[in-house]
Amino acid sequence: MVERRGLRPFLKWVGGKRQLLPVLRRFYPNTHGAYFEPFLGSGAVFFDLLGQGLLDGHAVTLSDDNADLIGCYARVGDSLDAVLAALDSLAAGHGQGGRDHYLQVRDSRFNPARAVWRDAGSDITTYPAELAAMLIYLNRTGYNGLFRLNSTGEYNVPPGRYDRPRIVDRLLLELASRTFTLPDVRVQVAGFQRVLDEALADDFVYFDPPYAPLSATANFRGYTGRGFGDADQQRLQQVLIALATRGVKVLLSNSTAPAVTRLYEGNAAVGAAGLRTWRFPARRAVNSKADRRGPVEELVVSNIRPTPSLPSTWQSRASASNTAPRGPGRRSRLAPSR
Ligand SMILES: C[S@@+](CC[C@H](N)C(=O)[O-])C[C@H]1O[C@@H](n2cnc3c(N)ncnc32)[C@H](O)[C@@H]1O
Repeated sequence: MVERRGLRPFLKWVGGKRQLLPVLRRFYPNTHGAYFEPFLGSGAVFFDLLGQGLLDGHAVTLSDDNADLIGCYARVGDSLDAVLAALDSLAAGHGQGGRDHYLQVRDSRFNPARAVWRDAGSDITTYPAELAAMLIYLNRTGYNGLFRLNSTGEYNVPPGRYDRPRIVDRLLLELASRTFTLPDVRVQVAGFQRVLDEALADDFVYFDPPYAPLSATANFRGYTGRGFGDADQQRLQQVLIALATRGVKVLLSNSTAPAVTRLYEGNAAVGAAGLRTWRFPARRAVNSKADRRGPVEELVVSNIRPTPSLPSTWQSRASASNTAPRGPGRRSRLAPSR
């Protein structure tokens, strides 16, 4: 059993779901088999479920196709002392050099060491603890929790603007380390479709794919450099339908970009699989232009019946009368937040 208090992600991640937890918690099933999270990122939902004791006694498979991220989690799990030693030294350097130190670490240490690891085959078991520490350092001090690669595969996230970034959160890293070494928890590099080979009836799968741009000008592809396009969104819809038809409990959060909503809202195959859709108000912080970071809606698709009472943080803002599912394929909508 892992200590629960204070469990939360130790990375900042673009699209991280901490702010949406009050909504997503309404869909956590009362009972389920194994748990899968195929777009792990910083793992906001995983850590939340774990913190609430909802994964006790369940097999857990966490995956992401970002090998650096999974390599980092693997070393935090099995080599925490080495990661912490390297991170302490990076934090001391940052205290003295700030932005210049960030750029020096990124360009003269992280990218060259990463290139060596990639040339050797990108094996997660050999991801160096120093690289894991540098990834945490760059993530905690870089721009907005972004992980972005240029066309030659080099990490090119600019420095962030933080006065006193919290670089080493020892307690959080220790909690996470114990989490990743639990016998029932598996952390792997995989494309999201792998879950089709593994999830069985009554298992619970939470999907949180990269956001589709809300407009053609807001084209954001900052996760791995490859992006997640319309064809990926279509494949994801098929995976959801297949799993729901199999009796797997699925929960998807996604953007309300038209290319996404038209795959789910009013879609006959989605409805026939027992999936329903909701829209919730959310805030998005991906856009580099602060004035474009306003409130947006978030799409939720699930075959799990949400708990009838709204979380207290949403009580005053949402109309409770239209929150219950109305029938397959129908959309119910909560009142805008502000
Ligand atoms: C919106 S983020 C997930 C955020 C996460 N829920 C959190 O709270 O931090 C989407 C994640 O999907 C990963 N990803 C992108 N394409 C993928 C694919 N084809 N298969 C699996 N993971 C993918 C990205 O590396 C990124 O970490």
